[in-house]
Amino acid sequence: MDNLRKTIILVDDNISNLTIGKNVLRDKYNVFTVSSGEKLFKMLEKITPNFIMLDIEMPEMDGYAVIRELKKNPQTAPIPVIFLTARNDSNSELEGLSLGAVDYISKPFSPPLLLKRIELHSLIESQKRELKDYNDNLQEMVEKKTEDVLILQNAVLQTMAELVECRDDNTGGHIERTRYYLHVLVNAMAEQNLYPEQVSAWIKDKFFFTSVQLHDVGKISISDNILKKQGSLTPEEFDEMKSHTTFGADIIEKIKRRVKETAFLDYAKIFALTHHEKWNGTGYPAGLAGENIPLQGRLMAIGDVYDALISERPYKMPMSHNRAVSIIKEGSGTHFDPQLVEVFLSVADRFEQIALLSQQIIDGNATHEEYANLDKLLQTTVLAPPKKPAQEQTAEESESAKPVDQ
Ligand SMILES: [Fe+2]
Repeated sequence: MDNLRKTIILVDDNISNLTIGKNVLRDKYNVFTVSSGEKLFKMLEKITPNFIMLDIEMPEMDGYAVIRELKKNPQTAPIPVIFLTARNDSNSELEGLSLGAVDYISKPFSPPLLLKRIELHSLIESQKRELKDYNDNLQEMVEKKTEDVLILQNAVLQTMAELVECRDDNTGGHIERTRYYLHVLVNAMAEQNLYPEQVSAWIKDKFFFTSVQLHDVGKISISDNILKKQGSLTPEEFDEMKSHTTFGADIIEKIKRRVKETAFLDYAKIFALTHHEKWNGTGYPAGLAGENIPLQGRLMAIGDVYDALISERPYKMPMSHNRAVSIIKEGSGTHFDPQLVEVFLSVADRFEQIALLSQQIIDGNATHEEYANLDKLLQTTVLAPPKKPAQEQTAEESESAKPVDQ
């Protein structure tokens, strides 16, 4: 069979009509003939023709009933149907066309006219297909452009966040690490079916985790002598430090007014505003408590504090991973959402992996590409729970540690 030729199924209960039709068409088309609607549906299980030429007047299942069935099935609905009839009245023609037929040809056929009509419909079908391909491509192009714009927007905002970070974190990496911590926590929540609606929306949104990076953007407004101070802050200085949350939210709000795509910025604003709230209501800026703190803020509190604890600051040495885990455990129900602390404990070893990789990058012993591998893993997998729980701390270690609270 010639694969380049179009295929036509001819349906007519009159055998001589089938023979005549086949003789007219077979030089240019692959032609199959069947003598009833039932046989047509059997044949359609095996082949999908380019056209069906359908007699209207047939015993049992007439042409109208056949086309109704064809249009009900998504597989057969797009196949163009041309009605064949000996009738010559406009009502039956109208009925056929309104049921979805593309044309109407009267019997007996005029062979050249029949060929011309099929040729014409072939042309229309190819043009329809070309138009559809063009529209699909156009859609793809628009999606690609939109993604490019969002990537650019993300890169600008990330750079802005890193510039702010440079001011109080000489070694860097906090912003990048917190993004990964959040990803690990959210994946674990998905696995444990916690807050399924919010969590699945976040996982689907490729910019959700990048919005984490703006949580401390408001620190741009904090003076160097506070950000880089070696000792503890005075109450006045601490008040100024607290304002990085509201100032960050204000900056993001200003950006929001200038751009159309704001989901990313809506997330970023919540992170900036609520990441220092505490479960018992003693946090800032609003003193929200319990579930009144947006889930994002409750999650970020864990990622942010864990990272502050294990990082070196002008006023403190870094703590060990185990000690940081212990402090977060102690803060369950006071500083942190107890349910989320349980989630954290189930994946704490992932936090350690991220922190170790970040340190290797800072020391020049690993590259950011290894983060990219981690990225791929996080994007394609809901992480399996670690094999062993996080190690317990000694009482001595826990006592000597204090949460970082800036
Ligand atoms: Fe902060």
